[in-house]
Amino acid sequence: MRHSPPRPLRRLGAACTCALLLCASAQGQTPNLQQGEQIAKKGLPPTVAACASCHGAQGQGMAAFPPLAGQGARYLRTQLDAFADGSRGNPIMAPIAQGLKPQERADVAAYFASLPSGIAATAGQADAKDKGAWLVERGRMQDGIPACASCHGPGGAGVGEHFPAIATLSASYMQAQVDAWKKGSRPPGPLGLMEGIAKKLSSDDVNAIAQYYAGASGAAKP
Ligand code: HEC
Ligand code: HEC
Repeated sequence: MRHSPPRPLRRLGAACTCALLLCASAQGQTPNLQQGEQIAKKGLPPTVAACASCHGAQGQGMAAFPPLAGQGARYLRTQLDAFADGSRGNPIMAPIAQGLKPQERADVAAYFASLPSGIAATAGQADAKDKGAWLVERGRMQDGIPACASCHGPGGAGVGEHFPAIATLSASYMQAQVDAWKKGSRPPGPLGLMEGIAKKLSSDDVNAIAQYYAGASGAAKP
């Protein structure tokens, strides 16, 4: 079945078109993928450890380390900038992001964005007896929680530049992000969409969602 994009997506699209010129000039020169790969695999000794040492050889992520492969370059770059300026608080990523010049952040973001995520964008099934499945595929309208899949795509595989893949995230990482939005230690992101949703999610919800993605046949693990 084909749906037209949900309203927030369309609004975001419009906002991005308007900001396009601004973004293009703020991003500087075109990213250098070779330089990005070098940073990913070797780091910039002695200050910046190889990204691969935590995020996996292919950027596929593991446990507490979110996946970088196949995420939008702009999303990754924005997160690195936020770690560097402290608006996304994290003691591990702060010194790493600060150790990269803006152009190097753009290079490494573009490199990881160019890798395949390995996550299958297969639509799942809403199941009234499975809380996680229902939240992902349908949401919980009485609490104003939209379906995760409406923005993060079928299989939680991510959509475009702004909606990251969430299918392979551990429950504890997902919970940490939800808590960060609740207490303001992660920037609200595009249009504050995710911050608003995070504030409505309980830890039970988060566990059920992570469990559903971990077991869903669509969410093929890299
Ligand atoms: C010592 C381990 C470690 C290394 C090395 C490391 N990271 Fe991370 N990274 C983390 C952790 C832990 C998080 C999760 C932070 C949080 O909980 O907010 C993270 C999060 C991120 C995120 C946010 C992802 C998202 O989906 O929100 C990006 C982007 C990122 N790292 C990029 C990099 C890059 C680029 C490098 C190499 C220059 C790198 N990391 C090296 C541990 C590491
Ligand atoms: C209206 C669109 C929208 C919906 C619906 C939505 N999200 Fe998001 N989500 C976003 C955006 C945009 C981001 C990126 C935020 C940023 O740039 O910091 C995001 C980011 C995330 C992240 C952080 C990923 C990372 O690697 O750090 C998690 C976790 C997340 N969403 C979980 C969920 C869950 C669970 C649901 C369903 C209950 C959901 N989202 C529904 C828009 C949405």
